[in-house]
Amino acid sequence: MTTASSAEQPTRRDFLYVATGAVAAVGAVATAWPFISQMNPDASTVAAGAPIEVDLSPIAEGQDIKVFWRGKPIFISHRTKKQIEEARAVQVSSLPDPQPDDARVKSGHEQWLVVIGICTHLGCIPIAHEGAYDGFFCPCHGSVYDTSGRIRQGPAPANLPVPPYQFVSDTKIQIG
Ligand code: FES
Repeated sequence: MTTASSAEQPTRRDFLYVATGAVAAVGAVATAWPFISQMNPDASTVAAGAPIEVDLSPIAEGQDIKVFWRGKPIFISHRTKKQIEEARAVQVSSLPDPQPDDARVKSGHEQWLVVIGICTHLGCIPIAHEGAYDGFFCPCHGSVYDTSGRIRQGPAPANLPVPPYQFVSDTKIQIG
């Protein structure tokens, strides 16, 4: 378990990597970070494809976390008003993979972006709150995604995919 935050960039938002089974360790190493509760089946069941539930309530505005579902990293961003506005201000037809922001989030829960955190170029893991659009940056070949996870610059051909998920309460989602 690591974080992509670095001491030399104190303004960068924390980007938390949370693996199933590592919840206790996360809570122990970083009290400033949210305690992520994944009330899920055991790891082998999750790896086999079981849905997972994620409690969103500890995730502060402007913060991103990463959980794993079916072995894939899932980024969950609690977007700020500014990030939402930026995502919605862009002319959709100008995008490499045109998709409006409201088609990528759940109605009534626009502050939450949930995407599969695998670069659509060659599969690297992008970094949150990096790049020119305050979204995600893939360091492998320089793809830049915006606050909606849409590709804006670089060689990646498509937006970060949105996994199947639903809100089971105002502060909890089920992925899968
Ligand atoms: S794998 Fe992300 S830019 Fe190539």
